[in-house]
Amino acid sequence: MSSEARKILVTSALPYANGPIHIGHLVEYIQTDIWARFQKLQGNRCVYVCADDAHGTPIMLRAQAEGITPEELIARVKTEHERDFAGFHIGFDNYHSTHSEENRHFAEYIYRKLKEGGHIAVRTIEQAYDPEAKMFLPDRFIKGECPKCGAKDQYGDNCEVCGATYDPTELKQPYSVVSGAQPVLKESEQYFFKVGDFADLLKQWTRAGHIQTEIANKMDEWLEEGLRDWDISRNAPYFGFEIPGAPGKYFYVWMDAPIGYLASFRNWCARSGEDFDAWWKPDSDAELYHFIGKDIARFHTLFFPAMLHGAGFRMPTAVYCHGFLTVDGQKMSKSRGTFISARTYLQHLNPEYLRYYYAAKLGPGIDDIDLNLEDFQARVNADLVGKVVNIASRTAGFIVKKFGGRLSDRLGDDSLHREGIATAERVAEAYERREYGRAMREIMTLADRINQYIDEQEPWVRIKDENQHPSVQDSCTVGLNGFRQLIILLKPVLPALAEQAEAFLQLSDQRWDDLREPLVNHEIQRFRPLMTRIEKEKIDAMIEASKEANAQEPAKASAPADGSASGIEPIAEQIDFEDFIKVDLRVARIVRAEAVEKADKLLRLTLDIGSEQRQVFAGIKSAYRPEDLEGRITVMVANLAPRKMRFGVSEGMVLAAGPGGKDIYLLSPDEGATPGMRIK
Ligand code: MSP
Ligand code: ZN
Repeated sequence: MSSEARKILVTSALPYANGPIHIGHLVEYIQTDIWARFQKLQGNRCVYVCADDAHGTPIMLRAQAEGITPEELIARVKTEHERDFAGFHIGFDNYHSTHSEENRHFAEYIYRKLKEGGHIAVRTIEQAYDPEAKMFLPDRFIKGECPKCGAKDQYGDNCEVCGATYDPTELKQPYSVVSGAQPVLKESEQYFFKVGDFADLLKQWTRAGHIQTEIANKMDEWLEEGLRDWDISRNAPYFGFEIPGAPGKYFYVWMDAPIGYLASFRNWCARSGEDFDAWWKPDSDAELYHFIGKDIARFHTLFFPAMLHGAGFRMPTAVYCHGFLTVDGQKMSKSRGTFISARTYLQHLNPEYLRYYYAAKLGPGIDDIDLNLEDFQARVNADLVGKVVNIASRTAGFIVKKFGGRLSDRLGDDSLHREGIATAERVAEAYERREYGRAMREIMTLADRINQYIDEQEPWVRIKDENQHPSVQDSCTVGLNGFRQLIILLKPVLPALAEQAEAFLQLSDQRWDDLREPLVNHEIQRFRPLMTRIEKEKIDAMIEASKEANAQEPAKASAPADGSASGIEPIAEQIDFEDFIKVDLRVARIVRAEAVEKADKLLRLTLDIGSEQRQVFAGIKSAYRPEDLEGRITVMVANLAPRKMRFGVSEGMVLAAGPGGKDIYLLSPDEGATPGMRIK
């Protein structure tokens, strides 16, 4: 290793330990892994660590719902996560957990340092409390009726039916998602981190090249608004670390989550004998990079650097944010089958297809990236199979069959080889700057040039003439040298393909600089196809399998945020018969069903109830195609007060069961019931 080798510590965000890894997460882990592999390939000392984020209310409730302890839950999920990451060749040097002794140590240490520095405040505040479950409720565990349109079961901050946004306290008929009880306000003492103490430091840090401009602009806004004290405590019951000297109070999950980076690194140090402080003290010569999604920037660019500094640790060299994944231009969707778990993907497709496609799409900014399934298939087939692998398949056969597997003893024409070296410099710069899209374009341009060369040389023609055989060996040697350079350039993205190619070329584990030396007077093995084309059927099967996987999931598991136990809602408050009979239920025929523009979930139904026709907006689009509903007999509430919605007036409701998504079941009376009959 050269003396200028950099010391680089790289992290990805720690995935929550209550759900599977999906292709959205993988944008981040693949982006980070490519960068870490590139650094190692360059000969730098690079360590890539991560961990499961194991604390918090959703994990506690999820374990309760499954009838297991949180420790059992997080152990199981960690195994699943590690298996899925390995499946995608994410090469962590260490994968740990925030529920670990190392993390408890650092969380307590940092808290103590901040307290000693006078950066912790204690105050009594009012929060929503579930009197039945006897616990304080995070915002997203409170639901109720939208204060604007009256739609039921809306989250505390926005209405999915009319799009209104509001404050949790404005919800009508609020209820706890945990028990169904009405939340009350309750006072308790909480612990706050006075992040404002570090405002000046953060102002400087923001503009010192540690974060992308887009995020720095956001930071300026936050800093201008003023930094309010950050509540780092939660009341029992909570799954996390109890705060020293504060019985019944726990560190908030977002307090100890980023500290998990230190914990995982410390755990790696113990295994590798490395000195922790050399990487984390303020004047360390090591570089520290955090790769994260843009949704969690605030935690990584405000709270975490301030905490590190306040506790006497170094601050990050850079925090790199990426955008969100869309599939075919839309948010991942369970009903469309585009909410694809890592596992489902791996059951159908080669992980390196996705690694390459994400690489081709990724830039240094925070734009969202789109997985367009048609383009995915076309691009991978054209570039990897049609260009890169094709070079080997067009040339290796001649070398093996006619020349005993031996390459020529020199490169007659080395212009392509030199072109490869020049390309490598630009590609290295692009990888370093996370301009992977540019790197992939450079690499494919080189692949085009090599294929063009082989086209011109026409070895398949010249092989027919004995006299020309030496030139066939030479041109195939040039072609295979180009192939080898391409493989090294692609190695951060396609580590498994590279390994197979190295075996085929009988090469040791290649480093970046190896591409400068030509490969001559060297024996190779018989070529076997290194990668096959993506077939459309495989993609379709993956989408179908994703639809099924999400339909099978227990209702509440598909909405992990919501955490209620069995998916069965609590029975509502008792009513008298007089109350019941007020509800006028009628048999109705759906005469027309149409999608409502700009409303993801709604269908506009025209219902015939004998005496008249009614227009009703129903949130059942995720489960039914409009054309399948027309003509169907169902049941409606006919005397519900009309409600004005953004799209028109809704004159009643149809009755359906189920938690939502694909799981919605419209009621139908037995055969013989006709529109207008009253249900009693
Ligand atoms: N546990 C926190 C992170 C703590 S870091 C100290 C968390 N976990 S997460 O599982 O929700 O997300 C993990 C990472 O994946 C985040 O950086 C997040 O931005 C990223 N992504 C999750 N879904 C994503 C997409 N659909 N698209 C791209 N990245 C996504 O947040
Ligand atoms: Zn609403």
